[in-house]
Amino acid sequence: MISKKLQDAFNKQINAEMWSANLYLSMSYYFAKEGFEGFAHWMKKQYGEEMEHACKLADYLIVREGTVLLDKLDVVPTGWGSPLEVFEHTFDHEKRVSKMIDELVELAVEEKDKATEDFLSWFVSEQVEEEATARSIIKKIKIAGTTGGIYLIDNQLGER
Ligand code: FEO
Repeated sequence: MISKKLQDAFNKQINAEMWSANLYLSMSYYFAKEGFEGFAHWMKKQYGEEMEHACKLADYLIVREGTVLLDKLDVVPTGWGSPLEVFEHTFDHEKRVSKMIDELVELAVEEKDKATEDFLSWFVSEQVEEEATARSIIKKIKIAGTTGGIYLIDNQLGER
């Protein structure tokens, strides 16, 4: 059975993942409104991934005889100045999420819960990928900014 401390931390992370989902859905509709269909599509996929992260954590809590407590979600931002600003926000946000996952791992170690430590290794790797993806899109947008190729990237991300 998972400890109460870890259960509480998992529930907090579930809430954070659902908030991330809402953030990316909000970004998706910002892009849709601005006419960037590819970016909007990419962000909607990202919304789905974040919901999967939340469910993966919640499913694990159940397997370990814990209780899933879904709390209310804070409001998410709704407006950005440019695609670059959105992806810089995404990158900063993912760096924060990586820290939260690291803290969860530290707690699992403190609680001497090897199974949870092992389970969380998937999230540690996922965060490396999430940060790298956002960083790479930022790079592309910056290059496009000097060559006028933003719609090429929009098309490319539409193929996700
Ligand atoms: Fe669930 Fe983007 O981290």
